[in-house]
Amino acid sequence: MRKEIAAANWKMNITYPQAEALIDDILQQGHYLNSHRLVIFGVPFPYLKMAQDKIRFEDNYHIAAQNMHHERNGAFTGEISAEMLHAIGVEYVIIGHSERRIPFNETNEIIAKKIDLALEYEIKPIFCCGEPLEVRDEGKQNEFVQKQIEESLFHLSPSQFHGFVIAYEPIWAIGTGKTATDEQAQEMHAFIRTLIAEKYGQDIANSVSILYGGSIKSSNAKSIFSMHDVDGGLVGGASLIAADFGVVIDSLKKDPEV
Ligand code: PGA
Repeated sequence: MRKEIAAANWKMNITYPQAEALIDDILQQGHYLNSHRLVIFGVPFPYLKMAQDKIRFEDNYHIAAQNMHHERNGAFTGEISAEMLHAIGVEYVIIGHSERRIPFNETNEIIAKKIDLALEYEIKPIFCCGEPLEVRDEGKQNEFVQKQIEESLFHLSPSQFHGFVIAYEPIWAIGTGKTATDEQAQEMHAFIRTLIAEKYGQDIANSVSILYGGSIKSSNAKSIFSMHDVDGGLVGGASLIAADFGVVIDSLKKDPEV
């Protein structure tokens, strides 16, 4: 059975006290979670320890960093390494978000290096992919996403790929209020799962959680998460408001089919 995941991506928002209150509020909502129905808070680096302390005794809540550097260590002022995240017990890291790829020139090759380092340090990547609007307008979104996945992930071994987490985030839907339709999301998620099945086999493809990201709100989470190949979401804006994110969490499928 693959995991259904509500992952918050706070980005560069909210202060430390606001972050503390947000986690407290969400924990107090008392969500139905289990080992296949998870919540992950993707928080800014200075909040990682605090966030981990808050969820320490909570089952099925996890913390993610939003980025890490692609080199092991060295003279990279201001950067954070996989080893540093591992040393404080970070379990997940968002890698390849379009807000990193585009402004910080993160190529598929750099992202592949990050994936390898994260796995080496036992941190689970949440690998983001997704096409810009002009590619969608040309109808070339499948080729675009296929290349991102092939160049950054398909060197992994079958055991590394088992249970992997991918977030499909069409760039035109991020922070724009313009969500992909349920059908557009399902179509791409099914395409991604087929790609994985062709490379690694159906069992591994069925074990991969494919999250949708891009303007998920409390009002649309339920219908998008109900699609067969949508295994939850990576949520920006709506993850900053406890009531909204609470609805998103409760919109996860109760019993994943596979
Ligand atoms: P959004 O961001 O929900 O605010 O569109 C999603 C993301 O970038 O992960």
